[in-house]
Formats: sequence, C-alpha cells, structure tokens
Amino acid sequence: MAKCCRVSKWCVIGVVVALGAVATIAALWTITLTGNDTTTPWTSYRLPTTLVPLQYTVTLWPRLTPDPNDLYLFTGNSTVEFECVEETDLILIHSNKLNYDVLHNKHFGLLSAQDGVLVPGVRSSWLERTTQYLVLQLNGMLVSGQRYRLYTEFTGELADDLAGFYRSEYVEDGLRKIVATSQMHPTHARKTFPCFDEPAMKAVFHITLIHPRGTTALSNGLETSHIDGVDVTRTTFEPTKKMSSYLLALVVCDYSNRTTQQGDTLIRIWARRKAIEEGQGDYALNVTGPILDFFQEYYNITYPLSKSDQIALPDFYFGAMENWGLVTYRETNLLYDPLTSSSGNRETAVKMIAHELAHMWFGNLVTLRWWNEVWLNEGFASYVAYLGADKAEPSWSMKDLIVLDDIHRVFAVDALASSHPLSSFEDSIVLPHKIVEQFDAISYSKGAAVLRMLSDMLSEKMFVQGLSSYLNHFAYGNTVGKDLWEHLQMAVQLNKVVLPATVEDIMNRWVLQMGFPVVTIDTTTGTVSQKHFLLSPEPDLKSPYNYEWLIPIRWMNSKEVQKDPWWLLHNRAENTGMKTTGDEWVLANVNVTGYYRVHYDRGNWDKLLGQLRADHRVIPLINRAQLVDDAFNLARANIVPSTQALQTTVYLSAEREYIPWQSALDNMQYYYLMLDRTDVYGPMQDYMRNLVTPLYLYFNATSGWTDVPEGHMDQYNQVNAVHMACSTGLEECQNLTTSLFRQWMDNATHNMIHANLRSVVYCSAVAAGGAKEWEFGWSQFKNATLASEASKLMSALTCTRDKKLLEKFLSYTLQPTMIRKQDATAVITSIASNREGQGLAWDFVRDNWNYMFTQYGVGSFNFAALISGVTARFSTAAELQQLVEFRGKNSAAGFGSAELALEQALERTEANILWLQQNKHNVLQWFTNQTLPHYHMV
Ligand SMILES: *[C@@H]1O[C@H](CO)[C@@H](O)[C@H](O)[C@H]1NC(C)=O
Ligand SMILES: *[C@@H]1O[C@H](CO)[C@@H](O)[C@H](O)[C@H]1NC(C)=O
Ligand SMILES: *[C@@H]1O[C@H](CO)[C@@H](O)[C@H](O)[C@H]1NC(C)=O
Ligand SMILES: *[C@@H]1O[C@H](CO)[C@@H](O)[C@H](O)[C@H]1NC(C)=O
Ligand SMILES: *[C@@H]1O[C@H](CO)[C@@H](O)[C@H](O)[C@H]1NC(C)=O
Ligand SMILES: *[C@@H]1O[C@H](CO)[C@@H](O)[C@H](O)[C@H]1NC(C)=O
Ligand SMILES: [Zn+2]
Repeated sequence: MAKCCRVSKWCVIGVVVALGAVATIAALWTITLTGNDTTTPWTSYRLPTTLVPLQYTVTLWPRLTPDPNDLYLFTGNSTVEFECVEETDLILIHSNKLNYDVLHNKHFGLLSAQDGVLVPGVRSSWLERTTQYLVLQLNGMLVSGQRYRLYTEFTGELADDLAGFYRSEYVEDGLRKIVATSQMHPTHARKTFPCFDEPAMKAVFHITLIHPRGTTALSNGLETSHIDGVDVTRTTFEPTKKMSSYLLALVVCDYSNRTTQQGDTLIRIWARRKAIEEGQGDYALNVTGPILDFFQEYYNITYPLSKSDQIALPDFYFGAMENWGLVTYRETNLLYDPLTSSSGNRETAVKMIAHELAHMWFGNLVTLRWWNEVWLNEGFASYVAYLGADKAEPSWSMKDLIVLDDIHRVFAVDALASSHPLSSFEDSIVLPHKIVEQFDAISYSKGAAVLRMLSDMLSEKMFVQGLSSYLNHFAYGNTVGKDLWEHLQMAVQLNKVVLPATVEDIMNRWVLQMGFPVVTIDTTTGTVSQKHFLLSPEPDLKSPYNYEWLIPIRWMNSKEVQKDPWWLLHNRAENTGMKTTGDEWVLANVNVTGYYRVHYDRGNWDKLLGQLRADHRVIPLINRAQLVDDAFNLARANIVPSTQALQTTVYLSAEREYIPWQSALDNMQYYYLMLDRTDVYGPMQDYMRNLVTPLYLYFNATSGWTDVPEGHMDQYNQVNAVHMACSTGLEECQNLTTSLFRQWMDNATHNMIHANLRSVVYCSAVAAGGAKEWEFGWSQFKNATLASEASKLMSALTCTRDKKLLEKFLSYTLQPTMIRKQDATAVITSIASNREGQGLAWDFVRDNWNYMFTQYGVGSFNFAALISGVTARFSTAAELQQLVEFRGKNSAAGFGSAELALEQALERTEANILWLQQNKHNVLQWFTNQTLPHYHMV
C-alpha cells in the first residue's frame, strides 16, 4: 500500500504529509481481549489454529441502483473449502457487517465434506460483532486431516465508506455513474464475504461477479467467461494464485482501458472513459512494462500472473493498494496529462506505480505472517520504488530523492521519545485499529532507509542475491523478518565477505529499538562516539540494546572518499583515522547511506562551512543537504546553537541545485511555524528574500516563467524559486503570479499557466486576492476533469487569508458533495498550516471531533494526520493546555489510530515551547545582523 498523499508538493503553505493511518472502527477500543481463551475462542481477535482454508468459490452481485430504502446492497454466496488440522467442534470465520440467510438447516452455514464423509450437524450459529466472526458450534468433532466445505448466503451494504466492497460515484457527460470497488486491506475482506481474514491464511479464490450488461467486471485474475442474461452479465475470473485475503480486489464499472503486452503479461490501465480518451492513462501504460521488467530482473523471478491491471478510482482512501493483479489507485496517483500535469505529478505516478508493482513479489508472492512486521513489507516497497522509478526515468536522479522525501522526513518523527521500533510483538498488534496504526512514517520511510543502508553495506549484488533466494524459497507462503536476514546471511557466506556481526545482529539493533544515533566525530583526537538522538532528552527510555547500534560509516576527507565503510561497534572508538590537521576536514555519512546524524567538533564544522562558501561543489550534493539538515536538528536538540544551523544556509545564495535548497526550506518551515506570528517574522522574511533572489533571477534569465528548465530537479527548484520569492514578498514575483492568474480569470477556458507552476501561482494569487479569486478557483475546482488539477486548486483554496472563506471551506469537509471524504483530512490540515487558518482549523476539529469520529466511521478521516496537522504550530502554554483538555474531554470515545499522534503532538508542543524560550532572542539577532547583498529589482 502506498501511503497517502501530499496535497501538492509545491503548495506554498507547506506540505501535508498524511502518515498513512486511517479511521477506525469506533466500537472496538473499549475491548482489549487478546488472549486465546480456550472456552470462548470467539472473544479472541486472533483465529484459532484448528482450521486452514484451501479455496473459496465466491459469487457477488453488487446492485448499482438503490433499493426502496435507498440503500445500495450486494448479495452473495460463498463456499470455502478448508482443512481441519486440529480436532475441533467450532468453526470461527471472520465476518463483519454481513447479514446471513438462514439456510435449510436453520443455520447461517451449511457444512459438507467430500467423498461421503459424515459431517457433524450445526448446533448453533451466531455473529460475534466485536471480534467480527461468524461462529458455528457443531454437534460433533471435525476430524484432523479431513477437508470440509462451508456454504453461506449473505447480504451486505455497498456503502460509500471506502472499505470492503464499496461504492464510488462520479459524473460523466451529465450522468451520475456508480463504481463498485474494493479495499480489503488490512481487515475488510470480512466485510465482503466470510473468510479466514489473516495474512497467513492463504488460499485460492474463484471469483464470479454478476453485473449490469454493458459494464465491466474486474478482479485479480483475468476474465475467463462472460455469460449474458437479460439484464446482467456473469463474469468469471481465472482462479487466483494462493494468496492472502487482503489482496483480493473486485470492481464493476463503466470504464475504458488502454492495453499493451509486455512479454507474456497483459498490461491494462483502467479509468473513466473521458480520462482514457484524453490520454491520461498513457504515461502509466508507458512506464508499467519497463518497471515490471526491471523487477523481474531485480528479483530474478518472472512476474507470477498472466495480467497486470491498474485502475484509477474517484474515491479511494489510501494512495494506492497492491491487490495482486488489480492495483487500485487514487486518480491523482495513476493518471497523468502531458499538458496540464506537473513534473511532480509525473514523479508521483511513476514512484507509486513502482511501489505497488514491487509488492507483486515482495508482499504478495511472499507475505509477512502478521501485521507486526508491516514495516518490512512497506519499507521494502518504498525503498525499491526509487530503483524501479529510476529505471523508467533514468535522467531524473530519482535515487537521490529518497534522502529528502523519506530519510529527512522520518528523522523528524523518529527523534521523538514517543517514537516506536520498526517491529512490534505479534501479540501487541491484534485490534483492527492497532493494525491500521502500523502504517505510519516509521514503517514506510525508516523501513526504506534501513533497507537502503543494508543494501549499501552488503553491496546491491549480494543484497539481491539473498533477496531472490528468500523469495524463491518462500513463494506462495508466509515469513517472519528473520527469514530474510537468514537468506541474506547465506549470500554473505557464499561471497565469503566478512562483516563485524551477522546480518540479523546488525539489523536487530535498527529494527527492535526505536530511534537512531547521532555519531560525533572529534577530528582533533580522531575519536568517534554514538548516542541516541532525541529532540528532548528523556532519561528513562528502555531498549533491549541500550541504544547502541552497529553503524557502517562511509566517510571522506578533503582529499578523497574512503572506499569501504568504517564500523562503529560500540559507544566510543579511538584512533579511527579521522584525526585531521591544518585545513583538512572530515565528512561522514557520504550520500547519507546510513540512518544516523553526524556531529563534529566546532573546528571541523567551521571548516565544512568554509568549504561550502568557498566552493560548495567539493562536497557531494546529498551531503550539502545533509549538513543543513543535521545542523538544524542538532540545534533543535540543543547540541549546537541555532545560529550555527542558520549559518549553513548562507552559502545557498550561490547554490542552484534542488536537493540542498529543499532541505533548507524544509528546515526553515519550522522557523516559519514557530516564528511567523512574532517579531522575528520581518527580519526572517528579509533574509530569506535576499537568499532566494539570486535563484529567482537565475531562472528568470534562463527559462523565464512561461517555460521550464530541462532537468527534472531544476524544474522543482524553479518552483521553489517562485514559491520563496513570492512568499517573502519579492514584488516582481507577486506581480507575476497575480497577472498570470488574472489572465486565466479573464479567459477561463484558456489556462496559460505552465503545469509545474500552477500550484504555486494559484496559491500565491488566491492569498493575494479576495472572494472573487477564491470563487473562481472553487468553480474551476468543481469543473476540473483532471484529478491532479483539482487537487492543486483544492490546496490553493486553503491559501486565502480571508477567515470567512476559510470557515466556509472547513464546513465543506463535512459535506461529501462539496469535498470528497477522501480529501477532508487534507483540506483541514492544509488550512491549519495557513497562518490565518490555524486557529479556525483547531476549533473546527475540536467542535466536530465526536461527530467525525463516531459518524464518519471507517476509512473517511485520517485521524492521525488530522491531529499532527492541526497541532503543527503549537508552541504556547495556552495551546498545550488546550491539547491536554482535548485529550481529557474525548478520552471516553478514544482516539483510535490517532492515539500515538496525540501523544506525539503533546511532546512536540512542549518541545516547541522550550525552543521558543531558548532561541527566539538569538535568532532575531542573527536575522537582523545578516548582511547578504541586497538585490534591487529593475
Ligand atoms: C450463488 O449465487 C448465484 C447467483 O445467484 C447462483 O447462480 C449460484 O448457483 C449460487 N451458488 C450456489 C453454490 O448456490
Ligand atoms: C479494453 O481495451 C481493449 C484494447 O483497446 C479493447 O479491445 C477492449 O474492448 C477494452 N475493454 C473494455 C471493457 O473496454
Ligand atoms: C508514451 O510513449 C509513446 C511512445 O514512445 C510516446 O509517444 C508518448 O508521448 C508517451 N506518452 C507519455 C504520456 O509519456
Ligand atoms: C537467476 O535464477 C536462475 C534460475 O533460478 C539462476 O540460475 C541464476 O543464477 C540467477 N541469476 C542471478 C543473477 O542470481
Ligand atoms: C553519491 O551519490 C552521487 C549521486 O548523487 C553519485 O554520483 C556518487 O557516486 C555517490 N558517491 C558514493 C561514494 O557512493
Ligand atoms: C526577468 O526576465 C524578464 C524577461 O526576460 C525581464 O524583462 C526582467 O527584467 C527580468 N527581471 C529581472 C529582475 O531581471
Ligand atoms: Zn505498499
């Protein structure tokens, strides 16, 4: 699964990162039964080990028109064949929100067996709503080694709740159209038909869909037959491979498609007819073949299925979902329009496609046994997504971007005392909302970072050798993380490489303890040491490894890059070769292949800063970004003064590259959040305007603003230049964006603004404008036929400074006809990141929490992102107090998947208060004293 979604990478008001959690089932958190009670097994959230499914034969009939009660329903029947592996008189099978027909045995299920074997009768059958089971108690025992079949008939609601088999709607040519689609992951297959809904309960699925004639039915397997009735068609699919229930997918729609063939694999891209006609599926079609080929080669295993379908859905909660053979996406993540999509949209698409296709092997062919190791699945796909995307777009330097987009981002979360280890104990992740909570930045981004480090320390060749051996060995089965370490260890031994410890020993330190180290290098003595890096110190944290890591350190000095990493195995080491004399400096963590921060003695810091100013190109690109990011974060943790961090930005007036600039802007974002309502704001704006002016002039002179530069990263930095120049009040820039937007308003059918610049131009113009600009933007949003264009407008509308408009917009998030449920969280958090909207958004969330939480239910709001988003600026005692009160007031209803986010918000607010106290004065002085040359506009 791909986490969802930045509203827009280039929105002036900052980036909204929804950390991949989702709303939860409200009824569940009062119950905490987890154990295996042997007398009432149906009170346990885990299935007993008595029965193992082999195959399902399922027929489903979604009704795309409402019944007399105005409900959309689906009906279905299912036969599951299972083997009894331990004698039992009980059948427990997952089932949620399904109603069963009473069959002729007067129970909810009919049991049978092959070859005339006698089966016990059903004594009683009922539904356990809290633990989500259909329970059948039998009169006698099922026999170990014997296979049985259970037949059921049931009805469910095809609701618009984005979970299980659900309904999505859109308007095309004035007609309202209904799509029946599915999101089974992680625990919603049980909302569609009764099933053993745990990832290790793999089985073969034989699916038949009944659907209106003329519509298209899709599932994991290729369609094998269509039988037309009077009104309906019955489409049957080839049986799936043996797989987990969460990977099942079902769609009935009126879509069209684009098709190609890659080797033996049929590739199809599905979307609304209009979107396909306009060629919006072509980019996905172009890159899918090369990416599949890359992964077949990388894993050294052919793609296991006969076809690869990818479909864009109007309503979809997550970024995308890797259903085996039928991957589902948000429209913005799959569709791309060459004329109106930005290069950021294109990158999102190729990265998302690579992420999902990576899962076809890692995750789908071989599946982790339980949700406590989600990180390995998601971290892996997130890491290799960069490799796959790099194959499809080799000129983009995609692999460098992992440092900005994943590593820097997750460092921020993992430096909190309320962080958590990558892996948890199996028993602690049992309730559905705990499962959902696993899909956070730690799992995705830290997972990606430590796997990249592992691949680097072993060499890519050895890494893929072990990986391929693991995938081959466990194909169609389930594993634990240790299995991967063992196969990598086998590759290490095969290659006769000597590591300081086993792969498992090394990895356990990164996986089983939270956080990461800061490595301190004293170049006056050559001593190197490590320490757990925390933004605020917390003395009582426990770890099985005492917060000591085995750290491969790639380093260089002013003369050369060292060939092999040097290993720091203990808290402290001496005589490392990193002692310097004269002007010589040391730079460690070359290209940030390691998951740690670096600190130096003051002399070395000064020499590095001197090098940046004298000739920054001597320092590798990624490390220029690292020096900025490390310095700012060391300052946040009180290890260096804030003014030293600010010092790393001075050289940027000569920097033209995207990655270091973006690193600095990401870090300055914190300064803006903390200081833009204080007297530091003015001098800070002056400094930033002076810093960015040369970059603005550079692009003004080279590409101008109606055209874009050639390089992918240069295109991003062009946007940064406008964004910073306009938002720091460079007049020429503001005139530019306002006049571009006005030209569009004057001729609404003719938008001349370059796709890359749209987000930033829209936002800047809406911020500078009033109700007229806002209403124009709103009408364009409602009429947009391209999802990514709608998304840019949606986020620009949050840039207005008019509180009335912001309030109106907030209220729309509770009206799905105005703002789709999938977008509600993004709009609210985006408004919160607006200086004028912060208070409004927080009030809105507080006033409506109970309603959103209990009424909106599964899959509508991302509560964790909502909490992180609306509290990002909190930095006063009053705000802390409000947060504490909010927690107290709502503790009865609970916070579900936002529980952790709330704790983190409290910790962050306290840290912010302290930071302001300690830094405001010095920072004000520093900004005031800067004497960058002033650029005068002519
Ligand atoms: C399941 O339902 C379909 C559609 O109503 C029907 O054609 C089929 O015979 C049913 N299956 C069984 C095993 O009864
Ligand atoms: C999918 O595309 C192929 C090739 O363009 C076409 O033959 C087929 O009819 C399309 N299927 C549907 C259901 O539109
Ligand atoms: C897809 O590939 C074709 C053939 O190479 C090319 O003409 C077309 O421009 C590409 N489309 C997109 C959107 O990249
Ligand atoms: C790929 O797999 C084949 C067959 O399993 C094996 O013979 C070959 O050595 C593998 N290639 C690599 C590069 O590991
Ligand atoms: C660091 O990354 C750059 C790409 O940004 C690459 O060209 C260079 O070879 C890498 N250096 C090392 C030592 O791996
Ligand atoms: C930006 O470029 C335009 C068009 O070339 C030019 O007229 C304008 O003077 C430039 N602005 C600055 C500040 O150089
Ligand atoms: Zn994923």
